[in-house]
Amino acid sequence: MSSEKIILTGDRPTGRLHIGHYVGSLRRRVELQNEGDYKKMFVFIADAQALTDNIDNPEKVRQNVIEVALDYLSAGLDPSKVTLFIQSQIPELCELSFYFMDLVSVSRLQRNPTVKTEIQMRGFAGESIPVGFFTYPISQAADITAFKATTVPAGEDQRPMLEQATEIVRRFNHIYGPTLVEPQIMLPENAVCCRLPGTDGKAKMSKSLGNCIYLSDSAKELKKKVNSMYTDPEHIHIEQPGHLEGNTVFTYLDAFSTDEDFSLFLPEYACLDELKEHYTRGGLGDGTCKKLLYNILNSRLEPIRQRRAEWEKDIPAVYEILRRGTEDARNVAAQTLDEVRRAMKINYFDDAELIAEQAKRFRAGTK
Ligand code: TRP
Repeated sequence: MSSEKIILTGDRPTGRLHIGHYVGSLRRRVELQNEGDYKKMFVFIADAQALTDNIDNPEKVRQNVIEVALDYLSAGLDPSKVTLFIQSQIPELCELSFYFMDLVSVSRLQRNPTVKTEIQMRGFAGESIPVGFFTYPISQAADITAFKATTVPAGEDQRPMLEQATEIVRRFNHIYGPTLVEPQIMLPENAVCCRLPGTDGKAKMSKSLGNCIYLSDSAKELKKKVNSMYTDPEHIHIEQPGHLEGNTVFTYLDAFSTDEDFSLFLPEYACLDELKEHYTRGGLGDGTCKKLLYNILNSRLEPIRQRRAEWEKDIPAVYEILRRGTEDARNVAAQTLDEVRRAMKINYFDDAELIAEQAKRFRAGTK
């Protein structure tokens, strides 16, 4: 299949990736990679963006670059199909951001809902918000457009970023002539996959809440985490009817289980609906459901763990993959920036026509 699609997406390296990232984005990226319906696919580590709100801990960002790279490779991203790169190593992105800053007003940034909630969450008081953080939607627009990405797989939370990027592209093309490409968001297909709750049933998996299952967790850690998962607090005795609403074990089963898993691990039931039916009727214990979930998650994580163990033995090779990917990505960004400078007519030294024109003007004394 050949296609004109240019797919691009990235993650902030603020921690190892967890199964929320896996169902929300990683799994889909690997599918997209293997379907091959694209001209080029980029996946990058947004370390410079991570610094915009982790300036109190730059070392955390630095350490997690390699963790995220290992997670990518072990989840199945293949460097022969996908260009993996590190954001901060592409100076063209800064240059493009700087030109974009002239196209966006402060009030437009203040209206960006993602920035708004993040400001509230982080408790930046009034105008103490770092300028870099405030303007990261602009830098993200540069990440996307420097590679002429047409397709950005991302969660609903990134929609305002894509809208902002689209506005910037339109504004740029309007002022300087058609140069940049409008990106489209590609949302996850399955609603439960958009926001997998933590093992404690809280809204979102987050490192600080300690409610994550990491891709790199051992079988033992996984078992412990599944066994302590939040279920239905009113389901105390097996005979009682259980509730599915907010029951994290069933939310995870929704996100991960297939009918084959049932024939493999719990053949008494044909599918998840049958299990749910028994659970809500009463007579089915949480233990059975947790055991099933453990088996399913473990079967997904085992190949990932094995690949990680292999890559961990050769860390220099992982950096080499990133170095080569970054080189490739930089060539693409440099090409776009050439076009951008030409469109803006700031390519003074390559513009023989401009030089001749100015020479003539001064000769004619029409300063
Ligand atoms: N903002 C994204 C996140 O927090 C990371 C990111 C940076 C990104 N630049 C991007 C995602 C460009 C998609 C496209 O996860």
